[in-house]
Amino acid sequence: MADSHLNAKEYVCNSQHVSFVWGLPKAELHLHIEGTLEPELKLKLAARNHIDLPESNIEDIRASYKFSDLPSFLAVYYKGMECLIHEEDFYDLAWEYLKRAKANNVRHVEMFFDPQAHTSRGIAFSTVIEGLLRAIEDAKALGVDARLVMCFLRDFSAESARQTIEAALPYKDNIIGVGLDSDEHNNPPMKFFNIFARARELGWHVTAHADVDQVDSISHIKELLEVIESERIDHGTNLVEDSDLVSYASAQHTGLTSCPISNSFCSGGDMKTKEVRELLNSGVQVCINSDDPAYFGGYVSDNIWAFAEHEHASIETLALLCKNSFKMSWISDVQKELWCQEVDDFVAAFSQAQ
Ligand code: ADE
Ligand code: ZN
Repeated sequence: MADSHLNAKEYVCNSQHVSFVWGLPKAELHLHIEGTLEPELKLKLAARNHIDLPESNIEDIRASYKFSDLPSFLAVYYKGMECLIHEEDFYDLAWEYLKRAKANNVRHVEMFFDPQAHTSRGIAFSTVIEGLLRAIEDAKALGVDARLVMCFLRDFSAESARQTIEAALPYKDNIIGVGLDSDEHNNPPMKFFNIFARARELGWHVTAHADVDQVDSISHIKELLEVIESERIDHGTNLVEDSDLVSYASAQHTGLTSCPISNSFCSGGDMKTKEVRELLNSGVQVCINSDDPAYFGGYVSDNIWAFAEHEHASIETLALLCKNSFKMSWISDVQKELWCQEVDDFVAAFSQAQ
């Protein structure tokens, strides 16, 4: 191998590097299934469910995706969900994503879903989860292992989160963990302290969003690390601003799930790749994910590609990011080893072919 450095110019002209990034075995740990609703499926579901959309074609739908921060994105995201009504709709949503996951060589996905965004519209919890679980079962034939992470909407009350846990109890073993998402402003992790404690009693893992450049990013990250003891933080790259917290996260092996393309929409064009690079150099585990790919326009390999281009990342760094995605996941240590070995084997085969 003459040069393992993938720089931006090489990318543009070297299709082998495209197949390297797309072919790397990877896990996706920060993916909102409702954020995978592509305009094509939105139109199909709207027609099937007799819903009048303001837009009648794909171009107009894409043109309506105008957001510059988290609240403006969330407004479009929740509106889009109104097309999801029947179990079959949730099946189609997850199945379309899982096929794309396969094309990105995603071997394992821990998929967020937002039950309260549906139950608050009168859709039963069972309708949502039964559709998702059926697609997850079918994805085994694709070689994609998928698990569910139930997110609480942080702009809803703790009581609403408690009721959501009650509704989820019949599906306790179909859920691998819980998360916290939606509008972060004035909604600190501590609001859900008892909810996280209850989730742990039920045997669920814990993660939570600390979106980029929020008013209280640092205090929310501090609460997640020191009080909630969250196993992962979704986004969370503002961590870099506090060296004590960086040391703490590194020592505790708290992983960050970063989403460069989403960051560029919610943070004035900044993908926060420099912060990811700096955190990796400080020993913090970070992996790259897609967040809401249908809205931000990039699946997980597009996000890894964006990171590589911005940081002129080496093959070794990209392999590290993919191994981190497995190491940070909630699968067995044996399975983690097997998938990390697949990454090493893939890199070795690629390097030999150069
Ligand atoms: N819901 C879906 N995507 C989200 C994000 N990136 N941050 C907070 N809530 C979300
Ligand atoms: Zn997210």
